Amino acid sequence: MLTAEKNERLTRVGPGTPMGTLLRRYWWPIAPSAMVGLQPVTRRLLGEDLVLFRDGEGRLGLLAEQCPHRRASLSLGCIEREGLRCGYHGWMFDTTGQCIEQPGEPVESEFKDRIRTTAYRVQELGGLVFAYLGPDTSEQPAPLLPRYDLFVWDDVWRDIGHAVVPCNFLQIMENSVDPHHVEWLHGRYGSFLKELAGEQEFEVLRKKHVKVAFEVFEHGILKRRMLEGQTEEDEDWKTGHPLVFPGMLRIGGGGLSFFQIRVPIDDENTWHVWYQTYRPEGGQVPPQAEIPVYEVPLKDGNGDWIRDYVDGQDVTAWVTQGRIADRTQEHLGTSDLGVMVLRRLFQEQMDLVEDGLDPICTYRDPARNVCIDLPQEKEKFGGGQAFRREFLPHGQTRYSPIVDEVAGLFGDPTLVELAAR
Ligand code: FES
Ligand SMILES: [Fe+2]
Repeated sequence: MLTAEKNERLTRVGPGTPMGTLLRRYWWPIAPSAMVGLQPVTRRLLGEDLVLFRDGEGRLGLLAEQCPHRRASLSLGCIEREGLRCGYHGWMFDTTGQCIEQPGEPVESEFKDRIRTTAYRVQELGGLVFAYLGPDTSEQPAPLLPRYDLFVWDDVWRDIGHAVVPCNFLQIMENSVDPHHVEWLHGRYGSFLKELAGEQEFEVLRKKHVKVAFEVFEHGILKRRMLEGQTEEDEDWKTGHPLVFPGMLRIGGGGLSFFQIRVPIDDENTWHVWYQTYRPEGGQVPPQAEIPVYEVPLKDGNGDWIRDYVDGQDVTAWVTQGRIADRTQEHLGTSDLGVMVLRRLFQEQMDLVEDGLDPICTYRDPARNVCIDLPQEKEKFGGGQAFRREFLPHGQTRYSPIVDEVAGLFGDPTLVELAAR
């Protein structure tokens, strides 16, 4: 149970809040690269309304949404070679936020030189555009965009699913250090729904957790679990997989390696990005021309949360906790150890930033940032193939436009059949 003040401190992400200040020290995905096309797009990140565009020279820009002239949205803008021209009176801004043209002013006017709008750094990696909204001066330079392995590997297939989940990011992150929910939310409840539908119940996801452990390490929190029938030599315990601080979960097995990225839009909304890579063990994949991007539906035609599959069950649990879970009313038990470890870690990192120090997962040395390898089981839940068969057709990957091809990539007839259903 938390006090209302502590809950507020851990969940508010806007400018000037302690958590907002910590989260601004990290790069966040703001859009799939494929979304940035011929028109500017509006995006909201950490409570700030922004416009993302690519100028005629191919340079990415991220500006405050409202035009500094008379506040029209710059989404109503034309993309030109030198920048983004406001659709209302034609003021033009380059990617640094500098106003470079004011067609209505006298030719000799220097007024434009004094107008600069908020602009943030953006960079592309692995099919995503990342933004950095934190301190960016010579005394306090921006950190490097971390080159995590899945964003960098060149011998995999990828796809990217995404959805706006209407709740605070923290309850989603807490789910990533809550191994027990797997056997209940997906194992028991998921099987219960399957039973009602007359379908086959989950097997792998029902395995009982005998013990769990959480270790704070350089990338965040390493999560270990031992399921019934396993020993400490099984990869679920020996290797585990991490919550990557502050906003990602790494998960996978059997040639699947995924990130779930929880991007705080504002206090009450999170952009959830499911970032998948596929590579059969010891196998080769043909080159991929482009990374497919798809939206993950959250509600069905009746307006009910879709929950007949793993990720839908997670989303339903998160949103039913409330827009911002009221932690003054909760009752944590011993099985919530991971949640406590995560809250303590956020608290410590907020304190570090308040003391003027870098929080964990800050990269400043390019030599350390070539490819950041993260731990992850290959033989998850006691068997890579069984995990793959249960996870690929029953995860949000079922909405991927390439799920059939991915199943074919693994040369597993059962998986092909499951994915085709
Ligand atoms: S409001 Fe943008 S140019 Fe006038
Ligand atoms: Fe889950």
